[in-house]
Amino acid sequence: MISKDEAEAILKKHGQMHLLNHFDSLDEQKQKKLLSQIENIDFDLIESLYKKAGKKIDTSNDEISPIGYLDKQKLYDDYKKYENIGAKLIREGKLAAVTMAGGQGTRLGHDGPKGTYDIGLDSHKSLFELLCDNLKEAEKKYGVRVPWFIMTSEENNDETVEFFKKNKFFGYEKDKDLFFFKQGQLPMIDTEGKVLLNEDGLIKLAANGHGGVYEALVKNGMTKKMKEAGVKWAFIGGVDNCLVKMADPVFIGMAEDKGVTIACKSVVKANPHENVGVFCERKGMPGIVEYSEISDEMAEAVDENGELLYGEANILCNLVDVGKIEEIGSEPLPYHVAYKKASYMDENGDIVEPDSPNAYKFESFMFDAIERSSEIGILRDTREDNFAPVKNADSAGVDCPSTAKALYEAYQEKLKNQDIDFK
Ligand code: UD1
Repeated sequence: MISKDEAEAILKKHGQMHLLNHFDSLDEQKQKKLLSQIENIDFDLIESLYKKAGKKIDTSNDEISPIGYLDKQKLYDDYKKYENIGAKLIREGKLAAVTMAGGQGTRLGHDGPKGTYDIGLDSHKSLFELLCDNLKEAEKKYGVRVPWFIMTSEENNDETVEFFKKNKFFGYEKDKDLFFFKQGQLPMIDTEGKVLLNEDGLIKLAANGHGGVYEALVKNGMTKKMKEAGVKWAFIGGVDNCLVKMADPVFIGMAEDKGVTIACKSVVKANPHENVGVFCERKGMPGIVEYSEISDEMAEAVDENGELLYGEANILCNLVDVGKIEEIGSEPLPYHVAYKKASYMDENGDIVEPDSPNAYKFESFMFDAIERSSEIGILRDTREDNFAPVKNADSAGVDCPSTAKALYEAYQEKLKNQDIDFK
């Protein structure tokens, strides 16, 4: 651990001396924590991120064009072929599931890890339990348990693990087939590039975005566990889609048969301005344009049949080869900048609760990794069977608990009435 003098030297070099302003009033434990934070933070990275913050991203040279995909409903003979390949891989234990549950349900207005949210079903099952049900169906069908890896954040890890414990891990066994691992964090900075202090006088850190999933899987030894267990494919998905299909044999078989290292599922965008990212090609490589970054012109462009040119919506359903995870995890993804409201300790030691955005937060997106593959497989699947997002509070009227509940119940009804095979 570095000394206070050494910390001062680091901070002086980076113009962050204010971080030690309250050092003497901290107890010994916090002093140690602060010194360790200063030792481990990459201030060069923070400086370079600050230079990007607040600047409009120039996308004029991105050379964006539509991307090819396969439609699950039009696979004909390949459907059976892929299904057989995928089912064999699942039976052989070559699939693991990763759930990215590090985000806080701020937009949802839920006080707790998002996965603990009850969307109001008669069963009152949480999002975590609905996801687990999907894995249990796979276990019933293929006779193997798909190991489950849950990414939490510093903020919600303890509460998440406690929730699972209270629910007897939904029948899974911690550290045998259920693993929790934490994503990384980065400091938040103000508009002058100064790193913020939190309520405790320590550096204010925030989750580094779900793009941290690759590095966190590697650093926490999760990919090692996967490889030891003979896992080849990791399904990586979000926590907030109650219709997510984590063990879809057709999807897995397609990825395997096409020999790609990343495959993604899409559904047709509901309308040009739906809050979803869309798949595209960027300079000839696969890519995604986020809903926050798409122009109206691009969002509304249609082909000769009147279909959206950029209509393949990203539903955060990805299959990534375990070797590819290790490759991506060894070289950080680029960071996107978000301007957020963040409380902090000011120079007088007072806590400030701003009522408008005041700080930059840096996040990487897991799907930026697809730009590192010359070819990925995109499989378009049906929306009603695959996508029931829970993003907003009910007052928003879209992507909210009541819409997700209705979609989930309609799907259950469909399964009952049509005797549909589990997917
Ligand atoms: C996301 C996608 C968008 C996609 C949409 C589909 C991003 C940036 N965009 O949007 O392209 O069309 O979902 O529903 O993801 N998470 C973490 N750690 C973090 C941040 C998020 O684990 O640091 C997890 C969340 O818990 C959640 C998932 O990532 O499971 C999605 O995050 P969210 O921020 O809600 O993304 P959206 O804006 O909804």
